[in-house]
Amino acid sequence: MQHKLMSLVAKTAIKSKDQLFGAIQPARYLKGLNKQQIGHGKTILITGASSGLGEGMARLFAKLGYNLAICARRTERLEGLKTELSAQYPDIRIEYRVLDVSDYEAIFEVFDAFVGDFGHIDRVVVNAGIGDSRRIGKGRFDTNRRTVEINFVSALAQCEAAMNIFRAQNSGHLVVISSMSAMRGLPKHLTAYGASKAGLAHLAEGIRADMLLTKLPIQISTIYPGYIRTEINTNAKPLPFEVDADTGTKAIVAAIEAGVEEACVPSLPWSIVGQAMKHLPLQIVNKVS
Ligand SMILES: NC(=O)c1ccc[n+]([C@@H]2O[C@H](COP(=O)([O-])OP(=O)(O)OC[C@H]3O[C@@H](n4cnc5c(N)ncnc54)[C@H](OP(=O)(O)O)[C@@H]3O)[C@@H](O)[C@H]2O)c1
Repeated sequence: MQHKLMSLVAKTAIKSKDQLFGAIQPARYLKGLNKQQIGHGKTILITGASSGLGEGMARLFAKLGYNLAICARRTERLEGLKTELSAQYPDIRIEYRVLDVSDYEAIFEVFDAFVGDFGHIDRVVVNAGIGDSRRIGKGRFDTNRRTVEINFVSALAQCEAAMNIFRAQNSGHLVVISSMSAMRGLPKHLTAYGASKAGLAHLAEGIRADMLLTKLPIQISTIYPGYIRTEINTNAKPLPFEVDADTGTKAIVAAIEAGVEEACVPSLPWSIVGQAMKHLPLQIVNKVS
């Protein structure tokens, strides 16, 4: 009993140290993992891998030795990514499939087809998303509904499909890409988007709670990115604390590899901003939107 307790304390201490290192120095943390090729023999499925954070994560995970199962609608981009990464990392296997996540049935079919390809999926990153919401009450219900459907209902379908696979395997790591905009209700074009991402974060927390309750060895991580310059915000003016896609994806991958339950990325300043957003009056929170 005492031995078990000591081993649990030691494991928790190592995990916390990793998470702190990954949060403070993501690039150095990833360098260490790269040397170990920690992804060797494992497979990661990423949705929305044709651009931005999904594409960036695919590059970094490939570097760590993982096999990749990538999907999106723009298959020419996925094919280009496969060609480039296969040449760079000949030891890994990469498969891609077309997937429009608004086609819920297709999500289950595509995820299962990847299981057929690889035999086992170690991690699924629910990343596909859009940022196209508009002020509420301005006649743009169609746009807001689409955003909520893609970012929440399609993400729910992806979580269902991933958890089907992980339950059958009795192992796996589900990662959802939420957003800092999930921390509070936000104004203007962020209202429906933020609500969809808050819904997704809550969904992931519920699945995590269920894994605790049922003692299944399936890990759930919720990532809250701050502003990262990608196609989703191409036309936006300079954004508060924005970073480029390379910096952003390194922070995300480091947090995922460190096995966080939840992380604001990049950790600085967003973990502090996140706490402030939760507790400050709305007039002040409005300043980061
Ligand atoms: N960049 C940021 O500042 C930021 C901050 C917080 C959270 N996020 C979240 O991070 C995730 C990735 O965004 P990003 O910044 O990388 O933007 P992005 O470059 O626009 O990438 C979005 C990805 O989602 C895919 N996607 C969109 N609609 C889809 C659909 N109907 N079916 C399948 N795939 C679809 C796109 O692929 P196709 O168009 O080829 O299908 C693309 O690969 C999103 O969930 C976003 O909300 C981003």
